[in-house]
Amino acid sequence: MRIAVIAFVLSLGLAGAAFAQEGAKLEPANNNIANVGSLQRGAKYFVNYCLGCHSAKYVRYNRMAQDLQITEKQLVENLMFTGERPFDTMANAMRPADATRWFGRPPPDLSLMARARGADYIYTFLHSFYAAPNRPTGVDNIVLPGTAMPHVLWKLQGVQHAKFTTDAEHGGAQVFEGFESVRSGDLSAEEYDNVVRDIVNFLDYIGEPIKMQRQQLGIRVIGFLLVFLLIAYMLKREIWKDVH
Ligand code: HEC
Repeated sequence: MRIAVIAFVLSLGLAGAAFAQEGAKLEPANNNIANVGSLQRGAKYFVNYCLGCHSAKYVRYNRMAQDLQITEKQLVENLMFTGERPFDTMANAMRPADATRWFGRPPPDLSLMARARGADYIYTFLHSFYAAPNRPTGVDNIVLPGTAMPHVLWKLQGVQHAKFTTDAEHGGAQVFEGFESVRSGDLSAEEYDNVVRDIVNFLDYIGEPIKMQRQQLGIRVIGFLLVFLLIAYMLKREIWKDVH
């Protein structure tokens, strides 16, 4: 019985993984939440490029400042523009009803997005906008076809086309082949990767602010267990010495 339950749970996990694999291939974000410089830059980009539409309502400014090692003065000067107070959460000024009218779908809160979708997903999502003149936003996205989100970073990345081939064997389905840059942006491809990595890193951090401490604690716990193992082993030898 127990084995059946375990097998069932495992199969659910596998099915989930298979489902996540479907569609576009995800690129690894390779972000590192221990990199405080990256988190600080990510916070700045987030406030400048995302907070206009998205909130991060579980994030309190002053908690973030503490984790990101910035002073309250730096916080107020660099990350808070609309008269919030440091103990406020990262809300945005857009009313959900307006957002729905403007975009068709309200921009989701991003507090837990990295946990829900994964860092690699967001990294790939922000790389996968392409020009689509028939769409209201002028762009579409490979990982979220028909998305209501405009390409807010287009000035940095530039404009790219998506190349598709038609798969005759599968009823003429469109198969994504790759991107082709048609207009370069303010940043090189590598600089753009870094900006997106910083944003994803920040979203990863806000998804689980305790992660940094948790990982450090984990290392200490394992260290303790190793030391204890040694002591236990020596003790065992000592006790069994006379029995043999
Ligand atoms: C102009 C408004 C606007 C801005 C600015 C904006 N977004 Fe969005 N975003 C949206 C909307 C609208 C959706 C809902 C899209 C949908 O469901 O099709 C969305 C959805 C998303 C999603 C969810 C995708 C999914 O799979 O459901 C992520 C992740 C995201 N945005 C990240 C960002 C990040 C990161 C930034 C800043 C770099 C940003 N957004 C800036 C409007 C915006």
